[in-house]
Amino acid sequence: MAEQVQSGAVASDPIADSLVLPIGSRVNERGRLEVGGCDIVELVEEHGTPAYVYAEDDLRARARAYREAFERRGVDGEVLFASKAFPATAAYKLFAEEGLSVDVASGGELHIALAAGFDPARIHMHGNNKSDAEILMAAQAGIGHLILDSFDEIERAERLLDAPMRVLIRVTPGVKPSTHDFITTGQLDSKFGFGAGDPTGAARAIERVLASDKLELVGLHAHIGSQIFELEPYRLAIAALGELAGDWCKVVDVGGGLGIAYTAADRPPSIDDYVGTKVAGVREVFGDDVRMLIEPGRSLVANAGVTAYRIGTVKEIPGIRTYVAVDGGMSDNLRPMLYGSRYEALIADRASAEPDTTVTVAGMHCESGDVLVRDAVLAAPAVGDVLVTPATGAYGHAMANNYNGVTRPPVIFCRGGKARVVVRRETFDDLTARDV
Ligand code: LLP
Repeated sequence: MAEQVQSGAVASDPIADSLVLPIGSRVNERGRLEVGGCDIVELVEEHGTPAYVYAEDDLRARARAYREAFERRGVDGEVLFASKAFPATAAYKLFAEEGLSVDVASGGELHIALAAGFDPARIHMHGNNKSDAEILMAAQAGIGHLILDSFDEIERAERLLDAPMRVLIRVTPGVKPSTHDFITTGQLDSKFGFGAGDPTGAARAIERVLASDKLELVGLHAHIGSQIFELEPYRLAIAALGELAGDWCKVVDVGGGLGIAYTAADRPPSIDDYVGTKVAGVREVFGDDVRMLIEPGRSLVANAGVTAYRIGTVKEIPGIRTYVAVDGGMSDNLRPMLYGSRYEALIADRASAEPDTTVTVAGMHCESGDVLVRDAVLAAPAVGDVLVTPATGAYGHAMANNYNGVTRPPVIFCRGGKARVVVRRETFDDLTARDV
């Protein structure tokens, strides 16, 4: 298991060695897909569809891979779970148990992190427009660091705080890795943070905060984007932070960003190589005396989860295409529509059968663009089959919505063949529960 997380081994058995499916996935004696030891077809007979299903061991293995990558290199630091990727209380609890810290980007995420029992000192807060209430909540909870994002926020925090608070300054280092434009954050033209090369930006913010008696500046932060396969941009970002640092800089938070395999064609770097690059970069620029934070989100949780749907209709348009419609779609996975993201799909009932039919997997929403997978190759998909899309563990549950009055799916953790529902399915009553 650790081997698979660390090395990104090349697949030979398409299911057991898949880099896309959760670690430990297999085809069982009945020819069905098993995740975390649970037969997916049986699981959804009991819990319904759609459902987010996670292999708990996979989440833990990736958390350990991160921690071990730090330990192996003797790093003084913290691995922060970027909780926006999977803001379910059970995930916060699991990563707290695994010794991770957490990054929150709103009062709501802070609330969940506290409810899950995170030591407040291990909670670090982001946000490009934190409200008075959020800043006060963070101060009262006694979080580790507030990551300052704007001059207005500096003013606001100074006005609100009674006692000094430890802060980092978020820097946009002027680095643009190749990923979708919507999820690059390190370029100067960004709503986030202070520009490294901008004379009115980071250097001025540092000067301003150093002069403050309420804000104790202890370090710098940069997050250059998400779903990134290259490693070089991180080094460039760290170098840009180095240009700004002074004696006061005791903490360097180098963000998240490691890409994952959504399809078998994707070859992201391993967790170990990714951490190794960041550690080497920080040491080269800052030496050994800084505390290092990293903030992985997607790479901790994406491949640990799959979504299971039921096929409701199969519509063949001769000479054009076949639409296979499932009972979810853009309400449980916005990523294909937002970013044009590619996913794989397979039929859980016949997981070892040779895929032979090219179809378009569509959702059930009232939009033609509600397509989950274009040109998926499936094993004779039929009405009633359970269709699974792998690699939906990050930013799926997180970005789920109620479009068309659809209730959001449950989150189910599977381990050793035992399933536990950690977030229940929404009910129709939930849809009217906020009405006044
Ligand atoms: N730290 C900060 C400050 C962030 O803004 C993010 C992600 C992370 C860490 C975690 O990055 P990761 O390791 O997950 O790449 N909804 C988009 C992703 C948006 C990412 C936002 N920030 C998607 O579904 O691809």
